[in-house]
Formats: sequence, C-alpha cells, structure tokens
Amino acid sequence: MTNPLFVEVVGEEELTERVAQLGAEIRQDYEGREPVLVGVLNGSVPFMADLFRHLDPTTESEFLSLTRFGEEGRVSIALDTLEPIEGRDVLIVEDIVDTGLTLASLRRILDTRNPSSVAVVTLLDKTNRRIVEVDVEYRGFEVGDEFLVGYGLDWDGRYRNLRSLYAVLDMGAFREDPGSLARELFGTGLR
Ligand code: IMP
Repeated sequence: MTNPLFVEVVGEEELTERVAQLGAEIRQDYEGREPVLVGVLNGSVPFMADLFRHLDPTTESEFLSLTRFGEEGRVSIALDTLEPIEGRDVLIVEDIVDTGLTLASLRRILDTRNPSSVAVVTLLDKTNRRIVEVDVEYRGFEVGDEFLVGYGLDWDGRYRNLRSLYAVLDMGAFREDPGSLARELFGTGLR
C-alpha cells in the first residue's frame, strides 16, 4: 500500500463547533461595544462568514488585502477597508498565523490609525514556527508544521473552498501534482 498524501486534520463538524465557541467568547467580551471585524483576504473568507454570524447584529465587517514584500515579511495594504477604523474596536480575522511576520506588520499599520482597540482572532496558529512575538487574543486551533489546505487556506489559489482542513504529507509530490487532492476527495478534477 502506498503512503497517504493527505490527512484530514480538522473536520467540518469540529470547525463548526470551534467557530461557534469563539463567537460566543467574542460576543461576551465585546458586550456593549460595536466591534468591526477586519478580514484579511482571501484566506479568512470562510472563517469570517461563519464567525460573523455568531456575533451581535451591531457588529460590522470590513476586508483588506495585503501584499508581502522582502524577506522579513513586511506587508503593504493592497486593498483597504471601505470605512476608516479610527476610534473603532477592531478585530482582525486571520486564517492562520505562522511566523507572525504578516500579522506583526499588519498590527503596526492598523495601530497608526488610532483605533480604540485592536485584537486578533485566527482560526489556526502554528505557534512553534513563530519568528516574531505577536499578540493573538483568540485562536481556534494550534496546529503543527504541516502545510494545510481547505476552509480558506490555499495552494496556489486552489482548495480554499474545502469544508474540512487537510494536511499535505508529501509536499514534493503535491507540488508535482497539485490536482491529486481534488482527485482523492472527488475522484475528479484538476491535473
Ligand atoms: P506568516 O507571516 O508567516 O505568519 O504567514 C501567514 C500567511 O502564510 C498566512 O496568511 C497564509 O497565507 C500563509 N500560510 C502559512 N501557513 C500556511 C499553510 O499551512 N497553508 C496555507 N497558507 C499558509
């Protein structure tokens, strides 16, 4: 028998449950305030959509998109929020924090805009890969080093719409044949 190339690490039901718990926690912590969720495109979209629906109806939603440049993980804002965040309670919504470089840069940028507060909610946290210290107020799951796809996470733009999270066990083989997961899951698809 050949070794499996992928393994499901968090299933749909577990994701649904954990997102509901995070939502309840945030709802309680922000009682009496009107936070604005700022989703980091594109990876946060499924998580944002699910989390958002557990929050108070006064909660607002915004998105932004980042461009990474340089080795140190510096970022600039490619697509900004529609409304200013000055004076607002901002909750950054991330799919995953890995080295922490992206989030540290983003926090620095948003801090210059004088929000009332900034906190981070990330679905996944690769804590043992951290290069810079960065505050993460809410996390869904701590995960290991493996490359993950699904529920927002992509490989070259693909697989963001999978309902569960999968770890790639053989990155070399996956790079050669990125359609292999689609074929394994659906018996069809991309090459
Ligand atoms: P950081 O700056 O190293 O924390 O990088 C965070 C970004 O790396 C995330 O927003 C993702 O775009 C990407 N990333 C990190 N780990 C994974 C993974 O396992 N799958 C897909 N993307 C990942």
